[in-house]
Amino acid sequence: MIKQVAFVAVLASFSFAGNASHLEPPLDLPAADAEAGKQKAKVCASCHGADGNSANPAYPSLAGQVSGYIAAQLSLFKSGQRKNDIMMGMAAGLSEQDLADLDAYYSNQEIKPGLVTEEEKDAVLRGERLYRGGYAPLQVAPCISCHGPQGHGVPVRYPRVAGQHRKYLEDQLLTFKASYETPEAGARFSYGDIMTRIAFLLSDQQIKDVSAYMHAMK
Ligand code: HEC
Ligand code: HEC
Repeated sequence: MIKQVAFVAVLASFSFAGNASHLEPPLDLPAADAEAGKQKAKVCASCHGADGNSANPAYPSLAGQVSGYIAAQLSLFKSGQRKNDIMMGMAAGLSEQDLADLDAYYSNQEIKPGLVTEEEKDAVLRGERLYRGGYAPLQVAPCISCHGPQGHGVPVRYPRVAGQHRKYLEDQLLTFKASYETPEAGARFSYGDIMTRIAFLLSDQQIKDVSAYMHAMK
């Protein structure tokens, strides 16, 4: 019961804080054509996989991502608010139509579940507690309140985390954390500073554990 109240409060305060940004999803994009997106995604396949399931843990899977999120991240790479040399180059030449089409294609693909090794099981259990319960001593909101009970995210703003590569998740949380510590060098923008602040409050061990859990979620 208490958790449910916190849940609503977090969502309410977040959508309020988020209204200030003009980049806030949903972006005002042209109508999408998923078939055209499939063609346009061919140049992305070497890293993200033909169907958006990437085989390399350094590259995120895009399959089954909530609709709206991929377009929003591509526009952040385009504007340089999310910094990554490869992706800033890839996004530079994309039109708004491309963003819409690519988003529609990937969000309609199915993500393959992540595998958990025997040694990862303890980390997964610790990560589950953090994901579902948050971290009360530092008032870290439960991840479940935005990313959902199964980690499937909530369109258009809260990304799917279930099944994503563990290494990529860890890297992103560390990047959010570093971006909070030194905003001027910040490599990753977060709407309303939500994820940068949350990651800043997590220890490196907690980041490892919760990433293992999100990777294992089906
Ligand atoms: C040479 C490899 C490579 C290619 C080709 C590539 N990407 Fe990426 N992509 C990456 C890497 C690396 C990241 C992680 C960037 C970071 O750490 O911020 C990424 C991240 C992303 C993200 C962010 C995902 C998330 O969960 O936030 C999206 C969206 C994306 N790429 C879309 C695309 C699209 C669309 C194309 C083709 C037009 C493409 N990428 C081509 C390497 C690549
Ligand atoms: C109040 C809502 C909210 C809460 C709570 C929250 N997140 Fe997020 N998260 C977001 C949003 C929104 C994004 C998209 C990027 C951005 O704008 O920050 C995101 C992005 C992410 C990403 C990047 C995903 C990708 O594909 O690149 C990870 C990883 C993540 N969150 C993990 C967590 C973890 C772990 C927790 C709990 C400790 C958590 N989040 C709690 C809203 C939230």
